[in-house]
Amino acid sequence: MPSPADDLITIRDLVRYAVSRFNAAGLSFGHGTSSALDDAVFLVLETLKLPIDELDPWLDARLTCAERETIVGLIERRVDERIPTPYLVGRAYIQGIPFHVDERVIVPRSFIGELLVSSLVGGEGFALIDDPEAVTSVVDICTGSGCLAILASRLFPNAEVDAVDLSPDALEVAAINVETLGADTVHLHQGDLFGPLAGRRYDLIVTNPPYVEAEVMAELPEEYRHEPEMALAGGHDGLDVVRRILAAAPDHIAPGGGLICEIGTGREILEAEYPDLPFLWLDTEESEAEVFWLTAEALGVA
Ligand SMILES: C[S@@+](CC[C@H](N)C(=O)[O-])C[C@H]1O[C@@H](n2cnc3c(N)ncnc32)[C@H](O)[C@@H]1O
Repeated sequence: MPSPADDLITIRDLVRYAVSRFNAAGLSFGHGTSSALDDAVFLVLETLKLPIDELDPWLDARLTCAERETIVGLIERRVDERIPTPYLVGRAYIQGIPFHVDERVIVPRSFIGELLVSSLVGGEGFALIDDPEAVTSVVDICTGSGCLAILASRLFPNAEVDAVDLSPDALEVAAINVETLGADTVHLHQGDLFGPLAGRRYDLIVTNPPYVEAEVMAELPEEYRHEPEMALAGGHDGLDVVRRILAAAPDHIAPGGGLICEIGTGREILEAEYPDLPFLWLDTEESEAEVFWLTAEALGVA
C-alpha cells in the first residue's frame, strides 16, 4: 500500500505536505503556534529532536523511512483527531524552556512568561520588580504543568516557589517537569487556590487561572477540547476564579510584594467591579491588557 511518506523525502517536503494538509483541513492554531506553517515546522523539528527555532540548515536534509513514517503519522493524527501538536510531540516551550506536556495539562502559552523575562523584572527604567535577587518567596496559583513556577525559580534565584493546582493529574505532569528540569526550589501542592498555603505570604503571586467564559467554552474549536475543561472554564463571564484570587490575595501577599494575573478579555468587567483597585494592564507581543499587576499596597497590605 503506497504511503505519502514514500514521496516525501526531505524536511522541506514534509513541512510543505503538513502545511497543505493543515490548510485543507481548516485546523485551528493557538497552542504555541499561530499558523499552519509554524505548526508544521514545530511538529517536524520537535519530532526529529532538532532545535525548533532553526529550520533553514535542515530544509534539504533527507530523512530515514522510519522518520518519514513517524512524521506522516503525526500529521494525519493532527488532522483527523484535531490533537494540538504539543500533545502529539509531548513538548511545549515557554521562553525556551522545554516542558513535558500531555492531555493532563493545558498546553503552556501564558503571556506571563514573556512578561517575567522582560525588562519589567530587574530591567533598566520602569520595572515591576527592581531586584529579582531580593525576591525570596513566590507562589504560582493554578500551576498546571508547573511552567510559570519553574520559570520563576530560574528568574528569582533566592526564592522558594510554591505551586498549587486543584488537579492531581496536572500535578503529576508538574512533578515530571520539576524533576526533569531540576527545579529544586519548586514545591508542589494539591488544593483549591490558596487553600494549602494557610498563613503564608509571598513577595510575588503569579497566576494564570481558568478564564474562558461559558459562551466561548461552548464554541471552542475541537483542538481545545483535548485540554482539561477545568484548565479553561471560568464560569459565566470567565472571571469566577479571578474574583476568588482577588479576594484571597491580601491574606497571602507580603508587604512590598505584587500580584501578576492573566485574565483574558475581562478588563472592563473587572474595572467596573473593582473601581478602587489601580490595575496596571500589561501588554505582550500577542496580547493587549490581558494581564494585570497589582501591588501589595493596592491590595491594602502595607
Ligand atoms: C489556564 S491553566 C494554567 C496552567 C499553567 N499555569 C499555565 O500557564 O500553563 C489553569 C490551571 O488551574 C487549575 N485550576 C482550576 N481551578 C483551580 C482551583 N480552584 N484551584 C487551583 N487550581 C485550579 C487547572 O487545573 C489548570 O491546571
